[in-house]
Amino acid sequence: MHISIIGAGYVGLVTGACLAELGHEVVIMDIDESRVEKLQRGIIPIHEPGLSRLIEKNALDGRLDFTTSLEEAVKASDIHFICVWTPPLPDGRADLTAVESVAKNLGEIFSRLTPPKPIVVTKSTVPVGTGARIREFIGQSYHEPFAVISNPEFLREGQAVADMMRPDRIVIGGDDEEAVAKVSSLYDAIQAPRILTDLPTAEMIKYAANAFLATKISFINEVANVCELVGADIDMVKEGIGSDPRIGKAFLYAGLGYGGSCFPKDVRALQQFSNHHGYDFKLLKSVIEVNEQQRQLFIDKLRRHLKDLAGKEILVLGLAFKANTDDVRESAAIDIIRRLQAQGAKIRAYDSLALLTAQKVLDGDIKYVGHPHDGAKGAHAIIIATEWPDFKDLDWPYIRSQVANPLVVDGRNLLDAKLLRELGFTYEGVGRK
Ligand code: UDX
Repeated sequence: MHISIIGAGYVGLVTGACLAELGHEVVIMDIDESRVEKLQRGIIPIHEPGLSRLIEKNALDGRLDFTTSLEEAVKASDIHFICVWTPPLPDGRADLTAVESVAKNLGEIFSRLTPPKPIVVTKSTVPVGTGARIREFIGQSYHEPFAVISNPEFLREGQAVADMMRPDRIVIGGDDEEAVAKVSSLYDAIQAPRILTDLPTAEMIKYAANAFLATKISFINEVANVCELVGADIDMVKEGIGSDPRIGKAFLYAGLGYGGSCFPKDVRALQQFSNHHGYDFKLLKSVIEVNEQQRQLFIDKLRRHLKDLAGKEILVLGLAFKANTDDVRESAAIDIIRRLQAQGAKIRAYDSLALLTAQKVLDGDIKYVGHPHDGAKGAHAIIIATEWPDFKDLDWPYIRSQVANPLVVDGRNLLDAKLLRELGFTYEGVGRK
């Protein structure tokens, strides 16, 4: 099948590369000339394991191309995936300016080219009802038959290629059965259950999935907070409840709350558009509140040990919003650093991948170190803010010999508490005994 991907961002690149790998002819379009020019030279603007190899291979095989011309991409394709960004507005609503502008442009191009029944697919996470609006926008200038389909992505950063090639379900929503079947057939080479439904239901599935996972995280964080008060241990509580298959062990890691480019944005958007339709989604209000509170509770914990944070040297290990990515969007680590800076703490920071991206968003006098050991000398506290597995294997006896005050506050419950305590550290996790 011939496919155009509109938007060479994270979702567009992964979707395009994987669809090419599945044997389709794909053109990825973006208005950013320098991005397209780099992609044509094989320079991939995002860090995602396996993506560069996939792009290089399929471009060489002639199944994957890049362009800045929407018309060129549309001319070469029968199915058009909208993968442009939908950033949050200050009130939490998704900003649909880019989606609407693509839809308008598609309508105009379709009316010039009159292709045989084009299919437009939304991949970006868009509020329920956006598919219908896209149909209206295209219909303003194009009056021949066309279909609008929702095919939401469920890609996790760091494992997006695997998530796309081996998904646990494929959701396709639309009113036009023939178009739904055609989009479904794009994934014929993939074994995964298909959930074929209507447009608003498919759009809702994406929000409900992310909001449910965020709810799981806020729930376990609250349980962890109570564990601290009553002397229970969150790791064992997680085992105990997660063994019930109705609950499951995944997404029950207590810590600093959820971050990243999806959960915070999507939870707020679902709450916002429920409100817009006259429904007060009370649970999500609490999910958001608990997520914010989790970071403050962490700072409070640090203050209980250090009293005044002013002038204290704090080594922050981890800046990315989670391990295996250089992405710092809505990262708990960044938020915590800002809060510490506001209280006069002096920050040293380390991350094996996200140093550069963090430097772009952080202000103030921060000492970025090339190795965690380099930041230990004279530190009054060490914070684990991202669950990079390497932090477990640091030379903790050496670090103990360097610090001014042996305090580790582990926001990810990553380290071996017993070992650290044996080395003479005061160790605090989240809800851990
Ligand atoms: C998420 C969804 O998983 C994915 O399906 C969707 O398409 C996009 O959003 P991603 O943002 O890459 O993916 O991150 P994910 O691995 O889901 O983690 C989100 C956040 O939750 C991270 O900050 C992570 O640290 C946190 N988290 C996750 C927890 O605090 N506890 C957990 O048990 C799991």
